[in-house]
Amino acid sequence: MTVRRILKWSGWTLLGLLSLVLLGTLSIHITMGRDLAATFAVDGELIAVPSDAASIEEGRRQAQLRGCFQGCHGRAAEGAVMLRLFDGTRVVAPNLGHIASRYSVEELERAIRRGVRPDGTSVLRIMPSEMLSTLSDEDLGMIIAWLRTQPDDSDELPDSRYGPVARILGFVFKHQFGAVLAAEAIAQEQLAPHGMSASRSRGRYLAETVCRECHGNDLHGAPDSSSPSLSIVTAYSHDDFDILMREGVAMGGRELGLMAAVSRSRFAHFTEDEISALYAYLNSVDSWFD
Ligand code: HEC
Repeated sequence: MTVRRILKWSGWTLLGLLSLVLLGTLSIHITMGRDLAATFAVDGELIAVPSDAASIEEGRRQAQLRGCFQGCHGRAAEGAVMLRLFDGTRVVAPNLGHIASRYSVEELERAIRRGVRPDGTSVLRIMPSEMLSTLSDEDLGMIIAWLRTQPDDSDELPDSRYGPVARILGFVFKHQFGAVLAAEAIAQEQLAPHGMSASRSRGRYLAETVCRECHGNDLHGAPDSSSPSLSIVTAYSHDDFDILMREGVAMGGRELGLMAAVSRSRFAHFTEDEISALYAYLNSVDSWFD
C-alpha cells in the first residue's frame, strides 16, 4: 500500500469514529433532555402545619437533623450554587425561604416527600428524596412551619442546568430521579410496615429518615463504599455511640471525615432518647434483615 492510500484510509476511519462520537453525544443529549423533562403524576397531600413557637423551634431541629441547612442549601437555608462546570452545568440548591413562600402546603409535601416539583418534574438526585419520603406528617408539618419563617431574601439564584458533560456522566452512571427513588422507598415501607416495639420503631424511623442519605437505602453502606454498613454499630457500646453522635469521634478515639462533620453539625441535636432508640434498633440483630 502506498503512503497516500494509508493516509486516505486513516482519514476516513478518523472521520467515521468522529461522526460516531458526535452521533452518540447527540442522542445522549436528547435522551437525557427527555428524561429531565419527564413528569410524574403524584398528588400532594394536605398535612397539618402548626403555627406555635414550640413547633416551629422543633421544626428547625427536625430540619437540622436532616441537613436542610448547614449543608447543600447553604448555612442558613439561603440556597447555594453547589457546582458549576465549564459546559454550562449548574447544580443549584434553592433558597428554602423563597420556595416555602411560593409553594402551597401540598406542593411542599410533594416536593419534599415525593421528590416532585409543582410542574410535575423530578427533583435532582442530589436531594435525598428516598430519605425524606418516609417522614411522618407530624415532623414534616413542623419542618414546613419552620421553613415558612425563613426569609425570602435571596438575589434570585439561577436554576439548575445540565450541560453536555453532565448529561453524558448522568447517562453513563445511570442517573436516577428523586421521584422514582421516593416512590420505591414508599413502596418498600408499605411492604414492611413498622410492626415492632415503640422504641425500636422510633429507632428505625430515625435511621431511615436521617442516616439513609449516606448509608444507603437498606443502611448496608453507600453503593460506592464511601460509608460503612451500620451493622458496625453492633460493635459499639452505648457510650461510644453517644460520643460518635455528639462529638463525631469513632470508637477507639478515631477521627472521621464527613461523618465527624455531620455528627457535630446535625446529630449533636438528637435527644438522649433518640440516640438510645437508634442504638437499640441498629443493635437488634433482625434490623439487618428488615
Ligand atoms: C452526610 C453523610 C452521612 C450521614 C447523613 C450519616 N453518615 Fe455515618 N458515615 C458517613 C461516612 C462518609 C462515614 C465513613 C467515615 C467518614 O468518612 O467520615 C460514616 C461512618 C459511620 C460509622 C462508622 C464509624 C466507625 O467506627 O468507623 C457509623 C457508626 C455511622 N456512620 C453512623 C451513622 C448514623 C447512626 C447515622 C444517622 C444518624 C449516620 N451515620 C448518618 C456519612 C454519613
